[in-house]
Amino acid sequence: MITVWQSINSVFNYNSHFNRNDMNLHKVKYNIGLVFMSLAILSACSSSGEDTPQPSFEVKGEFRFTDVEFWPENQEVVVGLYESNSNQEIKTHTLNKPGNTSVSYVFTGVQEGSYDIRLVVTENSVYKSKLFEKKGAMVNADVQIPAQTVTMVFFDRIQEQVLNSCLACHGNSNEVAAGLYLTADKAYSQLVNVNSTKSEMKRVLPGEPDKSFLVKVLQRDGLSFDHAASSTATKDDQTLVENWISAGAKDN
Ligand code: HEC
Repeated sequence: MITVWQSINSVFNYNSHFNRNDMNLHKVKYNIGLVFMSLAILSACSSSGEDTPQPSFEVKGEFRFTDVEFWPENQEVVVGLYESNSNQEIKTHTLNKPGNTSVSYVFTGVQEGSYDIRLVVTENSVYKSKLFEKKGAMVNADVQIPAQTVTMVFFDRIQEQVLNSCLACHGNSNEVAAGLYLTADKAYSQLVNVNSTKSEMKRVLPGEPDKSFLVKVLQRDGLSFDHAASSTATKDDQTLVENWISAGAKDN
């Protein structure tokens, strides 16, 4: 403000010094001075608006895991806050495997708005699958998200994390490799308790990962065709499938 006042004063001084004998020009300069003054007031108002910090809030919540023993070894479990409309990532936290069955999280400095909260699995920062999602949480005060119960091992996660990467050969065409469709609409019914066409085993025998040919394929074991090059499944992906089969290969 001080510099602005100085510049207004200098306009007046300038006027009086050079235009003592020219009243019309003096008026023009006087008007310029008024314009300066209005600009000064305007800028003072807008800059004081910027200086006021936006209010920000705290979002916290808790996840309870029904099967925390299946926490992945090398993959990360990440809770994230995303802007509902733009889907833009606001903040994320990697969660450590909890000692008991529950783990809490807190996001601070969150501005007013609508947010989606997601619990996802990543590997080397690459998205793998989603464990949980809550859409459109309104934040205009500190918010406590109700505790959510989360299951680590379920078929939709296997579909998203493992089987969706197999569709180049086991996908949506009339002829798929080994007659095995692994698309989301068909995979479960094509795998569970179905005889393998390439071995004496079932493709998936509930409760028996060692007698399930799908596990052999993911371990790159027992196919004449070199499946190794075509499978992107990592160690934790294999373990996930084995755990799902051990737990009864349910369609949950
Ligand atoms: C590049 C093509 C290709 C990709 C990608 C591929 N497969 Fe296969 N898959 C095949 C072929 C070809 C066979 C038949 C192998 C043979 O005849 O020995 C097969 C066979 C199988 C079988 C045995 C089916 C049976 O009846 O016993 C399973 C299970 C299987 N694949 C699972 C998968 C999974 C899971 C993935 C993804 C992680 C995958 N495949 C990705 C080509 C592929």
